[in-house]
Amino acid sequence: MYQGTVMLDLTGKTAVITGASRGIGKEIAIKFAKQGANIAFLHYMDADNAAATEKELNELGIKAKGYECNVADFEASQAAVEQIITDFGEVHILVNNAGIVRDMLILKMKEADFDAVISVNLKGAFNMIKALYQHFMKKRRGRIINISSIVGLTGNAGQANYASAKAGMIGLTKSVAKELGVRNVTANAIAPGFIKTDMTDGMPEKAREATLAAIPMGRAGLVDDIANTALFLASDEASYITGEVIRVDGGLAM
Ligand code: NAI
Repeated sequence: MYQGTVMLDLTGKTAVITGASRGIGKEIAIKFAKQGANIAFLHYMDADNAAATEKELNELGIKAKGYECNVADFEASQAAVEQIITDFGEVHILVNNAGIVRDMLILKMKEADFDAVISVNLKGAFNMIKALYQHFMKKRRGRIINISSIVGLTGNAGQANYASAKAGMIGLTKSVAKELGVRNVTANAIAPGFIKTDMTDGMPEKAREATLAAIPMGRAGLVDDIANTALFLASDEASYITGEVIRVDGGLAM
């Protein structure tokens, strides 16, 4: 019987995913694992969720391991990646998903609130790309997927730090796409809109209702919506797409 080609197959690939102890990152890890990928994931100050995620992933029959690492810490992130390469061998896919928010108007935003969000969301992605840059160069293949946000495209009142970091990630994505394209490494960004996770559950009720009302598709996104897009970008089927930003937002930012 004709079996056809297995689509979006990641068998034998290893993915490094930051911030995968919960939310969008965890769903990306599960989705990739179900397509056969081995998973090395980073988490920070979320040990119980990380242990549960590691167990869930291993039950899918692939190799999975969590590493406690603050992506904002340059030395720690280089060391984590070194350890991952020792444990897993070749890394094929990097997903920069770890992120935090410290929302408030600039009027009230402290220097530390700005710095913290830039350090985790933007510098964290740089640190991870830097750690895998030569590895991808030498292997002459690699996939980098950065989880940005639509507010990196539109700006948002109360999110100057976060929007700056997410816009910065888009510049970072396009720069690395230009630097490593010739080495067969692609770099793309996903810009999620309003996705139901612990992060958005923490939003004030009024802000949540106003955002929902502005979504043409009339509903919040699911972690699955983002994970499906990440899976496509990680797959062989997306091998000629680089430097792209894909909004996954139900039309919110069009
Ligand atoms: P979440 O708060 O549920 O999960 C964040 C993850 O990042 C956790 O696993 C946490 O341990 C990890 N993390 C936080 N700080 C870290 C650090 N310093 N080092 C390493 N790991 C760290 O967030 P959610 O909603 O799953 O978001 C994931 C990504 O998607 C973030 O980058 C976020 O900005 C982005 N995003 C989310 C949207 C949403 O509506 N939920 C919309 C647009 C973008």
